[in-house]
Amino acid sequence: ADGAVEIMVNGTRHAVQVDPGTPLLYVLRNDLGLNGPKYGCGLGECGACTVLIAGRAARSCSVPVDVARHWPITTLEGLVVDGVPDPVQDAFITEQAVQCGYCLNGMVMTVRALLNANPAPTEAEIRDALRYNLCRCGTHMEILNAARRACG
Ligand code: FES
Repeated sequence: ADGAVEIMVNGTRHAVQVDPGTPLLYVLRNDLGLNGPKYGCGLGECGACTVLIAGRAARSCSVPVDVARHWPITTLEGLVVDGVPDPVQDAFITEQAVQCGYCLNGMVMTVRALLNANPAPTEAEIRDALRYNLCRCGTHMEILNAARRACG
């Protein structure tokens, strides 16, 4: 049944009229107009839809809004504070780490989550964190360079 679900996104509380089982990704994009998180596979496999839930990376296509409502949610938009990008975003720009850019949201959010949990990750930990984020253009080396710069 439809009803209001309250979620906290990028520091603002929103009440949305959706079925509680609606994937968080749909609510972010369709109801809140936040287009940072992307729809890739819809199956939790590609990482394009990654957001932070309580600071940890989560695949918003696979999290019902009724579950996500229990914690603060951060999208790519929320990483920019007072017009200043997150250092992770700066690192991806400096390394020109994207081609089509579709996977970029997932890459940036995943590296941000890694740094939240581990401020000085090793090379192996960086690779492990990004292991299940897919890039169809094949710019993995540039993405790794950006991740290393952000973590350096
Ligand atoms: Fe969510 Fe691919 S769209 S993991």
